[in-house]
Amino acid sequence: MELLEAIEKRHSVRSYTEQEIADPTKSTLQAYIDNCNQESGLHCRLILNEPQAFACRLARYGKFSGVRNYIAMIGPNTADLAEKCGYYGEKIVLKAQQLGLNTCWVGLTYSKIKSVLQIAPGDKLCLVIAIGYGATQGVAHKVKQPQQVAQAAQPAPDWFQKGVKAALLAPTAVNQQKFMFTLNGNQVTAKAGLGFYSKVDLGIVKLHFEIGAGPENFTWA
Ligand SMILES: Cc1cc2nc3c(=O)[nH]c(=O)nc-3n(C[C@H](O)[C@H](O)[C@H](O)COP(=O)(O)O)c2cc1C
Repeated sequence: MELLEAIEKRHSVRSYTEQEIADPTKSTLQAYIDNCNQESGLHCRLILNEPQAFACRLARYGKFSGVRNYIAMIGPNTADLAEKCGYYGEKIVLKAQQLGLNTCWVGLTYSKIKSVLQIAPGDKLCLVIAIGYGATQGVAHKVKQPQQVAQAAQPAPDWFQKGVKAALLAPTAVNQQKFMFTLNGNQVTAKAGLGFYSKVDLGIVKLHFEIGAGPENFTWA
């Protein structure tokens, strides 16, 4: 499955079957996470067979069921942590989709199990991503119009429009889609709006934009 197809097929899934994540999927996913950590300096962890984080009332209220695996998005507590977690977490989400798994980003509706997470001094847990074999494939979210999230001084080239389209398919907290892409020459600026987890959202939508637009067509301003 190509990345663009993974973008189109991915939807948040909150209900999971009992099927375990077994080899070779498990080791492929772990190797991918290790690579992301090496590239980014993050310390993300794949936590398997741990049902406690999603056994709380908050998780049930959030309609989660059967979640026994998640990725803890952890990294050095610096100003760019949230955006980095968004960018690299979404890389992992799309890889999971290619491997036949389902996911859901989760900022609030879970509980932090300290003994499992074992966060090192200087590090911070940003949020988690539930992962496993979904009971369903989820449903498509409501999408804003491109002109609500993008502006261009000149007629927008095809690659810019494709980037915006891919960004609009990205997961954002409460589907807020509070971001803005601005085109100037072949330079693109991406800005987060005001909203909760909007910096994580920014990292996520920047990755989708790069995949849709093709990184060879532009540079980030
Ligand atoms: C940063 C972030 C935090 C999120 N936190 C939660 C959460 O706490 N609980 C939840 O049920 N969904 C959460 N979501 C999932 C969003 O509600 C979901 O991505 C959005 O509604 C769009 O739907 P889609 O992912 O199916 O395209 C979160 C998504 C993101 C990107």
